[in-house]
Amino acid sequence: MKKVVLAYSGGLDTSCIVRWLAERGYEVICFVADLGQGLGKGEDLEAIKERAIAAGATKVYIKDLQDEFIEDFIIPSLKANAIYEGKYLLATALGRPLIAKHLVEIAHKEKAEAVAHGCTGKGNDQVRFEVTVGILDAKLQILAPVREWEFKSREEEIEYAQMYNIPIDVTKKKPYSIDRNIWGISIEAGVLENLEQEPPEDCYLITKSPTHQPTYPKYIEIYFEKGVPKKIDGKAYKLKALISHLNEIGGQFGVGRSDLVENRLVGIKSREIYEAPAGTILHLAHKELESLVLDRESAHFKELIALKYSELVYYGLWYSPLKDALDAFVNSTQKYVSGSIKMRLSKGSCVAVARKSSHSLYKKELSTYGKEDKFDQKLAEGFIRIWGMPYKK
Ligand code: ARG
Repeated sequence: MKKVVLAYSGGLDTSCIVRWLAERGYEVICFVADLGQGLGKGEDLEAIKERAIAAGATKVYIKDLQDEFIEDFIIPSLKANAIYEGKYLLATALGRPLIAKHLVEIAHKEKAEAVAHGCTGKGNDQVRFEVTVGILDAKLQILAPVREWEFKSREEEIEYAQMYNIPIDVTKKKPYSIDRNIWGISIEAGVLENLEQEPPEDCYLITKSPTHQPTYPKYIEIYFEKGVPKKIDGKAYKLKALISHLNEIGGQFGVGRSDLVENRLVGIKSREIYEAPAGTILHLAHKELESLVLDRESAHFKELIALKYSELVYYGLWYSPLKDALDAFVNSTQKYVSGSIKMRLSKGSCVAVARKSSHSLYKKELSTYGKEDKFDQKLAEGFIRIWGMPYKK
């Protein structure tokens, strides 16, 4: 019997895929990647496992990949300040290459000849999965049933699931398509497709609405070491706990929402709502610290790198030579990115209000307008004359 390893989410699509592949002669092994989608009031991984079996899987792997996700994917992107089109912290995009990596590993272990995913033919995720699988093992066959099967609507899939007693929750109306992990939540479809309409409050899962946020501000101080967050308000945290904690407080203050009409890799514009409280706080704090410790040229050049880095992640090119080279550059810039940034959270906003670092390049005796001034203003005249010389008529 042919074996296939399916990246299984527990949703309607991947549940139907299990049965659909089984009907076509495959032994289906499901792989559930735990990237933190179960944190808080998130998804129930045990229920997902049971559903996979009920749908016809012969075996289910659930792997807790949260630490690997954070250390090898989230932190590098944070150091790089990678944000796609200015608003998307790439939670979904960063997770895909990691899921694909483990999908390939399980396929090897199980001696499967194919892997499968539940992505549609219109999105970015199919590209990220398949490009990554191809990079890691070009011989593995890749199946994408959603791109070719007969179902034309959600209703048809529900009918199919019911026919085969696949336990799916059809009573609950599912107004959005949601992808969730520890770094953030991506929400699309349904009423969100109407660009002229403000996203309804019910699309947000972890950030409080303006009417439910506290009226007072909250201050938190984040300490980084070589670009990696280590402490909150003086208390050391492991990365997973640190991110979870910031998701919690940031969410209370409505921090980290964004509404983006983005350019998909396949050429379609689409609207997606994102929630990423921890990511937003950490990105802003990290950037603020870099302003303090990086020299001007490195800081400006790093902004170009951030743009490219975010594209590579979004385009599914995580395992590419350029991404590796950019990581080397980014890591070399993080040597002195150590220090503390105090942030104020208030009514959906998050701003840096104070900073300190032993590597700070800020010299008060140079910038001051007070009497401690050590800057020799007379030297400016010669500097300007030479600087402007090539442009003089
Ligand atoms: N637009 C985002 C991306 O391409 C998220 C895609 C998944 N979104 C979802 N709601 N299922 O990375």
